[in-house]
Amino acid sequence: MKIRELLEQRRSENFALHEQYLNAQMVKVLKTIGFDRQYVRAEGPYLFDDQGERYLDLLSGFGVFALGRNHPKVVEVLQEVLSAELPNLVQMDVSLLSGLLAERLLAIAPPGLERVFFANSGTETVEAAIKFSRYATGRSKIIYCQGGYHGLTMGSLSATDDQYYRAGFGTLLPDFVAVPFGDLAALEQALSGRDVAAFITEPIQGHGVQIPATDYLPGAAELCRRYGSLFVADEVQTGLGRTGKWWAVEHWGVEPDLLCVAKALSGGFVPVGAVLCRQWIFDKVFNRMDRAVVHGSTFGKNNLAMAAGLATLEVIESENLVERSAQMGRHLLAELQQLEQYECVKEVRGRGMMIALEFAEPQSWSLKLSWKLVEAANKGLFSQMVVVPLLTKHHLLSQVAGQSMNVVKFIPPLTLTDDDCRWILEAVSDVVADLHRGPGAAWEFGKTLAAQAVRMKVGDR
Ligand SMILES: Cc1ncc(COP(=O)(O)O)c(C=O)c1O
Repeated sequence: MKIRELLEQRRSENFALHEQYLNAQMVKVLKTIGFDRQYVRAEGPYLFDDQGERYLDLLSGFGVFALGRNHPKVVEVLQEVLSAELPNLVQMDVSLLSGLLAERLLAIAPPGLERVFFANSGTETVEAAIKFSRYATGRSKIIYCQGGYHGLTMGSLSATDDQYYRAGFGTLLPDFVAVPFGDLAALEQALSGRDVAAFITEPIQGHGVQIPATDYLPGAAELCRRYGSLFVADEVQTGLGRTGKWWAVEHWGVEPDLLCVAKALSGGFVPVGAVLCRQWIFDKVFNRMDRAVVHGSTFGKNNLAMAAGLATLEVIESENLVERSAQMGRHLLAELQQLEQYECVKEVRGRGMMIALEFAEPQSWSLKLSWKLVEAANKGLFSQMVVVPLLTKHHLLSQVAGQSMNVVKFIPPLTLTDDDCRWILEAVSDVVADLHRGPGAAWEFGKTLAAQAVRMKVGDR
């Protein structure tokens, strides 16, 4: 079988196949909002469709493509691994590649982290962090933040504060308690019983791109220390340069007890995750020879994932991507903040290459009426009215930053050029300006979306 030939022969069948064998609702969504493109090639921050049109990807596969797509250095390393006839997943063995990646990760980790556990995805790192925290402390309770997102397997979901993901999936794990993000008094109250294994949070919440006040994370870490709870930083999205530092916790000088990383570590090729943690925690969990395999997964530490991780870290370093993310992010943010002059734009915020535009109900009557009509159908629909023309008119792929919120998020590759930034600024300015011209084509489209949203909801029942 030749993959290229197979893809060529059956090129236009992807939607039909997904309708028949996979998630047909996803096909419906893409068709409804006009996102049903046939992407056939990808390079760096660009996607190309079957018409030869180029798109700039500000979604990065939910934050996977920090290096852009198909980075030649990562491709080269993976090809080398594939042709090297290496022993892989021997299991009753310890591989050199995983040792090397652990060494490299710990060299750039926040101080105090000395051990690594490898997993295959973000959610698996969170599951491991929950289990390690419980075992190491002998306590059961986990405190998590409202508005946070940690993944969709049952343990991570128990720490993910979103009814959209939870409803109907039955009883979640016991002893999980939510506190408001940013509220140190609530956190102290939750921790003060000295029965909490860990407090888990994203340093910057991915949903909505919520950035905490300066004192929050240092205060939270200090409270955890005071009450004997572990501080787990979920950097699955924010890690590896995304926010303009290697780790987002560095913005606040915080030293977590456990740190979860995944997404970008894959180089955009091989699913991988890692939990970096303090030595004593690791030593407690894996405390005897007969507990050497007490937590793990068959595919953890596989050669391709480890090599992808090593290549990714090398590219981030050699191309100076952390610094680039900080600089380009600052520039983009400053330029985009000029849009705050528009009445629907409540705030433009971000750190590095993690930027959000938040929208809110306008004051003027003509816009207010249209806003109410659209938002009545589906809260957060206005942000779709930004995301859709960004793709259909300007070929920018972006996302709404969470359920029922009017926040549009950009998490592009860290490799963007000045031309890419100009593309973004022109496109976003045009779309936002269009929506402020009063009732017209942009809002008509919103009303069509609203009608479809109502119909989709009815169809769902
Ligand atoms: C902060 C955070 N934690 C955990 C996850 C779950 O990662 P995965 O989708 O690889 O399981 C995500 C995914 O978006 C995330 O953003």
